[in-house]
Amino acid sequence: MTNAAPSVLVTGATGGIGRETAQRFVREGHRVAIADIRQDAVDALAEELRTEFPGADVLPLELDQSSVPSVEAAAEAVRGWSGQLTTLAVVAGVLQSEGVPVTRLPVEEFQRVHAVNLTGPFILAKHFIPLIPTDGTGSIVMVASYWGREAHPLYAAYCTSKAGVISLVQVLAGELAEDGIRVNSVAPGNTNTQMHQKHLRDEAAELGITFEEMRDKHWSTIPMRYAGEPHVISDAIFFLASDQASYITGATLDVNGGVVMS
Ligand SMILES: NC(=O)c1ccc[n+]([C@@H]2O[C@H](COP(=O)([O-])OP(=O)(O)OC[C@H]3O[C@@H](n4cnc5c(N)ncnc54)[C@H](O)[C@@H]3O)[C@@H](O)[C@H]2O)c1
Repeated sequence: MTNAAPSVLVTGATGGIGRETAQRFVREGHRVAIADIRQDAVDALAEELRTEFPGADVLPLELDQSSVPSVEAAAEAVRGWSGQLTTLAVVAGVLQSEGVPVTRLPVEEFQRVHAVNLTGPFILAKHFIPLIPTDGTGSIVMVASYWGREAHPLYAAYCTSKAGVISLVQVLAGELAEDGIRVNSVAPGNTNTQMHQKHLRDEAAELGITFEEMRDKHWSTIPMRYAGEPHVISDAIFFLASDQASYITGATLDVNGGVVMS
């Protein structure tokens, strides 16, 4: 792999969708900076990727995307590593700790979710845009959610944070179009990761049913009748970052098995 290879930063890289995204970009010959909150987890993923893809150029980074100093340090590390960044892929996100009405949702919880899911993408964009090439090859891809498309009672913090991402992407797309930098997002539906499984476990406990019963009940509401595997989202992220999406900017691509039609 040469230094002329395109480079990407993937946040939330050790999570279900992030890991699949990092693998996809490595497989396609990109230099990949993998960032997540735990250094030991990104180091372990870097080792896995180097073993699976000998010669891969992987930079593990400890990153809290809600923290300005942490993002600044990551931007400096990426500048030293590759000098520029072809694609910023903002995948990290957190779910609200529980589903409760606004009257019972602590302000601190609302702010925690927004800090990671919305302020984080803003801080990342602010500090990484200067590294993105303006020759038409650069782009930003963020991960929103179908819960940012439609309201889900009891999840005010999460829904509004993801609706904000969809808006942020449009604002950035307008600001950066003249520089040749495209900005898009993917809005996943139910995706079979730790995040989705924890949500099912919590709901099952609340209803006093088993995980399998809850999963079947939940998945039966999806028109395609199953949750997507993480690669369906990383495929969409890769597509939006690729030249095949050269005239797409400000878009949010729904990848959800039709769940918004249920
Ligand atoms: N799984 C789903 O059903 C689903 C549905 C819609 C949207 N999403 C979105 O997809 C994205 C990925 O979710 P996932 O399902 O892979 O979840 P996941 O929990 O497996 O992964 C999320 C990753 O983000 C990391 N992270 C959390 N806070 C961070 C921070 N402050 N800085 C950096 N990294 C941080 C976590 O450590 C974790 O590795 C999230 O933005 C999520 O909101 C997921």
